[in-house]
Amino acid sequence: MSAVVAVLNRKGGAGKTTLTKDVGYALAERGARVLQVGLDPQSSLEVLARLGFDTPPDRTVSRLLMPEEFGDTPDLETVIHETAWGTWLIPASKALATAERALGEAGRGGVSQRLKRGFSRLGVDERFDIVLIDCPPGMTSLTMNALVAAGSVLVPTQLDFLSVAGLAVLMETVEEIREYDNPRLRYLGIVGTQTDERTRHAREIRDQLEELFGERAGGVLCRGTIRQSTRVRDAHAAGMAVGQFDPEHPVSDDYRALAEELAVRARLDLVTGVIR
Ligand SMILES: Nc1ncnc2c1ncn2[C@@H]1O[C@H](COP(=O)(O)OP(=O)(O)OP(=O)(O)O)[C@@H](O)[C@H]1O
Ligand SMILES: [Mg+2]
Repeated sequence: MSAVVAVLNRKGGAGKTTLTKDVGYALAERGARVLQVGLDPQSSLEVLARLGFDTPPDRTVSRLLMPEEFGDTPDLETVIHETAWGTWLIPASKALATAERALGEAGRGGVSQRLKRGFSRLGVDERFDIVLIDCPPGMTSLTMNALVAAGSVLVPTQLDFLSVAGLAVLMETVEEIREYDNPRLRYLGIVGTQTDERTRHAREIRDQLEELFGERAGGVLCRGTIRQSTRVRDAHAAGMAVGQFDPEHPVSDDYRALAEELAVRARLDLVTGVIR
């Protein structure tokens, strides 16, 4: 069984893509078989992975979402690519915008079930320990597919007033999905990213989050946070995970610690002490 995780925040720039990439690497480094899935037509994760925006659609996630457009071709395997950071990737491309529109048309069947179906056609459950789905911002038919396919959601958030206010809306959405579409959906965690604990505002927000979602309030909030660091952007530019680019940097420690915490939360059976 793989843990299928939707990396979700409706807010743009919350850190979804970066978290998917860098925590994906940290999990792979610890021996997990990690599949990353791009569900954003902006193709940010794919740009980082050096695939760009224009991967032929039959080699992207569009193929899983719109099988009727591709005929019944048996070589579904070609949607899975290898990344430079030790994971596998089913990429988005800019053509995903077409699939997104098509999923909104009247008369299409099972429009929110398609990613889930695609995963089972690929045998994802047997082949990977964890699947990280990089969701687009907003709440689209693509996000719906992620939330139906997923067992849990991982929510990166910046530690500022508006971001935290936005979490309430996000949680209502998750509640609704649980009610109507996917009763087994739970939280893997809420993670503070791009944190700067030196500012009083960030500490206050952290305390507020602690009160709302910390251990005494169900423990959804992760203990680990990811600090703000220019090294993260440097690693993006180099097409690497920051843990590869600068393994000794404190932000790389943050990702490793978070990966450990998430592995426990997701009940992954990692090989202790073995680094691939
Ligand atoms: N820990 C960090 N330190 C510094 N910069 C960061 C960190 N995490 C993310 N960023 C930067 O913040 C910006 C937004 O991050 P990212 O693209 O991951 O967010 P997103 O939620 O995927 O955005 P979108 O909603 O547009 O998909 C990027 O420029 C990224 O490089
Ligand atoms: Mg993104």
